[in-house]
Amino acid sequence: MEFVITAGPTREFIDPVRFLSNPSTGKMGFAVARAAAQRGHKVTLISGPVSLRTPEGVERIDVVSAREMFAAACSAVSAGCVFVATAAVADWRVAEYSERKMKKTDMSSTLNLVRNPDILKSIEGCVKIGFAAETHDVMENAAKKCREKNLSMIVANDVTEKGAGFGADTNRVVFLYPDGSKVSLKKMSKLAVARRIVRACEGICS
Ligand code: CTP
Repeated sequence: MEFVITAGPTREFIDPVRFLSNPSTGKMGFAVARAAAQRGHKVTLISGPVSLRTPEGVERIDVVSAREMFAAACSAVSAGCVFVATAAVADWRVAEYSERKMKKTDMSSTLNLVRNPDILKSIEGCVKIGFAAETHDVMENAAKKCREKNLSMIVANDVTEKGAGFGADTNRVVFLYPDGSKVSLKKMSKLAVARRIVRACEGICS
């Protein structure tokens, strides 16, 4: 099988020295890439700025912004591939990027923002797996994303839980399917979660 995986944060630069982003470290996405490659699948990993080594046997494409990630994802996917979106994509970018560093005295206290593309929602022709990292109403929010982004499975987790959020080496997740069925996993390493995700994808595609 062929896997295309997004990972890490995106950065939306305001000027050459400032950006909007989030605390994603890319660990979950890199673990999925490693697990898929170890199972003998062809893997393309599209990563935002992270400080992780590329897993063996994985083709890596580095990007910075959400729009770059979107373009890379559109080029990488092919009919019938599995698209796993683990990236914490910045939902907004500034309406106008300033080529010159803005002096604080000239900056307004408000930023004019525009929406970034929803990569996972826009991709078509693949089996799509999403993540829902939530702080509240976890299963309701995950079910809504699963439906609205037309996913074959969504991996839900509560990022406020100890050992389950950004940067942790462990995660506690629930797999939620479009028919409402669920599989709750106990807390385990991100690599163990990743192996379960890859097996679930193999099951969906069989
Ligand atoms: N996602 C994406 N492109 C975006 C936003 C999200 O591909 N612009 C993907 C994420 O990689 C994840 C899923 O969609 O697999 C859900 O992302 P999340 O940030 O939890 O949800 P949003 O759709 O951005 O909704 P909200 O921020 O309102 O919770």
